[in-house]
Amino acid sequence: MRIAMIGSGYVGLVSGACLSEFGHTVICVDKDEKKIAALQAGGIPIFEPGLDEVVAASVKAGRLSFDTDLGRAVAGADAVFIGVGTPSRRGDGHADLSYVFAAAEEIARALTGYAVVVTKSTVPVGTSRKVEEIIKQARPDAEFDMASNPEFLREGSAIEDFRRPDRVVVGCDTDRARDVMREIYRPLYLSETPIVFTTRESSELIKYAANAFLAVKITFINEMADICEKVGGDVQDVARGMGLDGRIGNKFLHAGPGYGGSCFPKDTLALVQTAQSIGAPTRIVEAVVAVNDRRKQDMAKKIETAFGGVKGKTIAVLGLTFKPNTDDMRDAPSLVILPYLQAAGATIRAYDPEGCKEAAKHMQLDYRKDAYDALDGADGVVILTEWNEFRALDLPRVKAALKQPLMVDLRNIYRPAQMAEAGFRYISVGRA
Ligand code: UGA
Repeated sequence: MRIAMIGSGYVGLVSGACLSEFGHTVICVDKDEKKIAALQAGGIPIFEPGLDEVVAASVKAGRLSFDTDLGRAVAGADAVFIGVGTPSRRGDGHADLSYVFAAAEEIARALTGYAVVVTKSTVPVGTSRKVEEIIKQARPDAEFDMASNPEFLREGSAIEDFRRPDRVVVGCDTDRARDVMREIYRPLYLSETPIVFTTRESSELIKYAANAFLAVKITFINEMADICEKVGGDVQDVARGMGLDGRIGNKFLHAGPGYGGSCFPKDTLALVQTAQSIGAPTRIVEAVVAVNDRRKQDMAKKIETAFGGVKGKTIAVLGLTFKPNTDDMRDAPSLVILPYLQAAGATIRAYDPEGCKEAAKHMQLDYRKDAYDALDGADGVVILTEWNEFRALDLPRVKAALKQPLMVDLRNIYRPAQMAEAGFRYISVGRA
């Protein structure tokens, strides 16, 4: 199959590269000339483990290329995927669809024969129909079908998620479109991946429902953690005890500083807005958004209390990104927690394996070259992101480096008993 991928950001680039690995010929398009030039020169603009190898292999095999010219990519394509950004609209939280609609207009002009136009970006229910109208208006003669094919990739494990997804969801109304989509995902049939064919509206909603539900799970366990702290429980045990119930499942029950990233905050907000505007409010998701926002503030206060006030203190911070294995800082809890601590008079010495460069665009901190460099002479250490390299710190060395043996671990990567034995005052989430 020949595929045009419009938008070479996170979703577009990973999906395009992985589809070319399936054996299709893919052209990834982006308006950003610098980005395309970098990709053409073999550079990868984002940090995603394994992506560079997939891109290099597919480029070498002649199945993957990059272009700024949308027309060249769309002409003759069997499928045109729209993978452009859908940020939160400033002010109201609705998904900003201007990039999607602009792409639709351009695609309309460029279509040369039958193609399936697929929305891959996360778009509110009804968007696929709007895109269809735009294309029909611009090109009444165009022969095409619309499909919705949301993406469920997690940053940091996106390549594996694409190769071995739990499921693929496709919304479309015609057999012809179904056949094209089936052919595109044929390699996954071999591994018996469930493919859910449904209507476009259901497909669009599945994406928001899945992300919102996961956000609910995280927020729920975070509230259980608060209760554990008051009553002397252990949230890890509570999560395990709950999660072993097959109806609940043990994933996404890790208590922490609140969810962040480019998806959950934006998608929960967009779902709330859509639901309100159609008169079917999602009160659970509304509460989740509010509780999660509040949690980041509460975590900053928790650190302040642990340090007995932070004025004039130096805090070593390990981890800045919203989760490990990414350099993505979007809606990272650190962006709320650290400015709060600075405003309260703390000096922040920070280290993150990949995120310092991105973080420096948003926060003025004392960035250090590794964990021990950040710890040296600090009044205590805070773990904000559970990077693997923070899981096995040399505890005697950490203790010797700090002015006082204080660790606030907002990701629960150490065990209280182990830390007590190592002589630390250790404060974690939802554990006495
Ligand atoms: C999320 C979904 O997991 C993907 O399935 C989806 O495709 C993606 O959004 C998207 O819509 O594009 P991602 O944002 O990469 O993926 O990251 P997650 O691994 O889901 O983590 C999101 C946030 O939740 C992070 O801040 C993480 O620290 C937090 N989290 C996650 C917890 O606090 N506890 C958990 O148990 C799990």
